[in-house]
Amino acid sequence: MNFENSVSFAKQLDKNDPLKDFRQQFIIPSIDGKEQIYFLGNSLGLQPKKAKDELNKILGQWSVYGVEGFFKGDDPWIDYHDKLTKPLAKIVGALPHEISVMNQLTVNLHLMMVSFYNPNGKRNKIICEAKAFPSDQYMFETHVRHYGFNPDDTIIEVQPRKNEYAIHTEDILLVIEQHKDEVALVLFSGVNYYSGQLFDIPTITAAAQKAGAKVGFDLAHAAGNVSLQLHEWNVDFACWCSYKYLNAGPGAVGAIYIHERFHNDKNIARYGGWWGYNKATRFKMDKGFKPINTAEGWQLSTPTFTSLALYKAALDIFEQAGWENILAKRKLLNDYLWFVLNEIKIKGAFEIITPKNEKEKGCQVSLLMPDRGKTVFDELAKAGIMVDWREPNVIRLAPVPLYNSFEEVWQFGNILRQILKK
Ligand SMILES: Cc1ncc(COP(=O)(O)O)c(C=O)c1O
Repeated sequence: MNFENSVSFAKQLDKNDPLKDFRQQFIIPSIDGKEQIYFLGNSLGLQPKKAKDELNKILGQWSVYGVEGFFKGDDPWIDYHDKLTKPLAKIVGALPHEISVMNQLTVNLHLMMVSFYNPNGKRNKIICEAKAFPSDQYMFETHVRHYGFNPDDTIIEVQPRKNEYAIHTEDILLVIEQHKDEVALVLFSGVNYYSGQLFDIPTITAAAQKAGAKVGFDLAHAAGNVSLQLHEWNVDFACWCSYKYLNAGPGAVGAIYIHERFHNDKNIARYGGWWGYNKATRFKMDKGFKPINTAEGWQLSTPTFTSLALYKAALDIFEQAGWENILAKRKLLNDYLWFVLNEIKIKGAFEIITPKNEKEKGCQVSLLMPDRGKTVFDELAKAGIMVDWREPNVIRLAPVPLYNSFEEVWQFGNILRQILKK
């Protein structure tokens, strides 16, 4: 499409947008009565208006039935989490029984390390991206120390090339090949939180498995953002949080994906809890752990139903909008953002460090600000544009298809140019 840098053109794109009405289903933050331009779907997705209703159903069930709410009422809690696995399966490209909605992301990453990081002799290395999200780095470090290894020798970080910010897939493959006799686990983000780079998940998966390693992905910035086919790509495991592109609320319950071929694999270690125990006999309270033979067998505790209710409200919107439609708008919105940014044309004012190639990006764009970055960020905030600042010098923004408009993208570009011109 030939874009134009004008508000009328942006408005026309909105008019033609089949998803334009979905914005009405979210609460847009306002300051002094003025709706903000909220480009932080990569950080905390907005609240669906129906979230309160779903929450009230849980509270209602609790008030009417007390503990019997587990088994009675319209939505018995005992199977409540099952309502989420089908819509999530579409979003991450998995079979519903390969998904379990549980815990939070870092907790789930630790649990996945128990199952999929099995150092054996010299095969003890972990390959990951440089500058992974800090929680992932601490997770690697503490597991490696638990086994008595030195993190500096055991964790191999693949770096971007000199003066670059994205990591070349060929460099990842080279590192895997170089360590093919010693790599136990390859674990990357789906989308890197800082640069916004979407990694080539199927290619990394195939290379890691060929080297004899297990392979998993932290999809915090990928789930609900980019197209994923975890089952078809044969990914071993993945985890994600649900408060970013999935709009399930601050600190919302996370989820795991485990390929079905591991569900009954007796060689896979795991921690057990009663909520992962065979449902038919769970309440016999017998000795001896007999896990459910799906990804649910990795559950430990009674779910946080209030959080599941908020998640359900958000996933209902994904279902109504249709995942393919969301992806199509994501591409157009992001292409328009790139166009608008390229129209600013103030030499040296910023550098886009997110890869341009459609296969290597999602909603997010990261702007490296060589100077005055924090001032620019503060001025954007004053103008009602909510983006985020990541030390030392990056502004991240992520217009999302369900509640952002083309006009907001145009306004952002216009205001940014005025700020940079000062
Ligand atoms: C890539 C990535 N991994 C892990 C985490 C930690 O998530 P949680 O605090 O839900 O454990 C985050 C949080 O933003 C993240 O972006």
